[in-house]
Amino acid sequence: MASEHQPPFAGANALIFGGAKGIGRCVALEWARRGARLAIADIDEAAAQETAAEVEAAGGKAVGIAANVMAEESIAAAVATAENALGGIDILMNNVGGMLNGHPEDIPIREWQRIMELNYLGSARGTMQLLPRFIARGSGHIVNTASFAGLYPYAASRVPYAASKAAVIAMSENLAVYCEPRGVRVSCLIPGPVATNVMDSMTSWTEDCPLRGPGTETTLMLPEQVAVVLADGMRDGRILIPSDDVGLEIVKRWAQSPDGFIRARIDEFASGNRGNPAIPDAIRAAMGARK
Ligand SMILES: NC(=O)c1ccc[n+]([C@@H]2O[C@H](COP(=O)([O-])OP(=O)(O)OC[C@H]3O[C@@H](n4cnc5c(N)ncnc54)[C@H](O)[C@@H]3O)[C@@H](O)[C@H]2O)c1
Repeated sequence: MASEHQPPFAGANALIFGGAKGIGRCVALEWARRGARLAIADIDEAAAQETAAEVEAAGGKAVGIAANVMAEESIAAAVATAENALGGIDILMNNVGGMLNGHPEDIPIREWQRIMELNYLGSARGTMQLLPRFIARGSGHIVNTASFAGLYPYAASRVPYAASKAAVIAMSENLAVYCEPRGVRVSCLIPGPVATNVMDSMTSWTEDCPLRGPGTETTLMLPEQVAVVLADGMRDGRILIPSDDVGLEIVKRWAQSPDGFIRARIDEFASGNRGNPAIPDAIRAAMGARK
């Protein structure tokens, strides 16, 4: 059986953009538990410091850094600060993502642009800072966070979000084709529904626009569980790492008949099925305990 303290984590220096809260915070704690040293870069500097303190309280090494992935200079400065604190970076995670909701015709084009800038180009900017170094030394691991929304169609109420996450998946897949022969690993975390506070920063552009979910066959997960799935997937050499393999099962159904799949989703929504995930009792209890 594989030891959990093995590459890519033991002794590695990891930088996570969007590592202060939610999934990123749990990934930081999980990677630290497996032996990595962490730089937690986030627009919420206080939360980044808090998460770094949590890692250190658990016996790990971490620094919290202020960073805005909308700006190349801010990313470059965060990389420099992380390298000064830890040494060369071995693992980069581009985890920042923002949500929005509304009918597509109500969402101004500047908002489509903002979501693409944040979710897709934010990941590309992080990648572009470290890729030249990773390629030059023939090692390194890039992890980008996408979403089930970019994997198969359901997100009628957040079309720009789905498009930005599809872009993250396409970028990651093609980067893997390019990078892996050069010794650089690429993984794409593809979360299904996860119990975080991501909705707090969600802009809504249409009143009473139901938020359509990824399907009743999906299950809400805790960010701690997603962090374990990601770390195990990276350890096992996976490229696409859905939080739950049900995402890939759904893609298989889509692939058998893409039009049929889309029409079935239209019919489902028309019948009042919003595609909400199942919420296991244990997860409901864990969410309640956090409030
Ligand atoms: N929660 C879900 O159900 C879900 C599902 C699929 C995909 N995702 C994706 O997972 C990732 C993490 O989401 P989460 O649910 O943990 O949300 P979250 O809001 O808890 O975490 C996002 C983190 O990014 C930070 N951030 C926001 N804007 C930033 C910026 N401009 N620069 C730097 N940091 C910034 C936030 O402060 C926060 O710490 C996102 O990419 C999200 O799209 C989440």
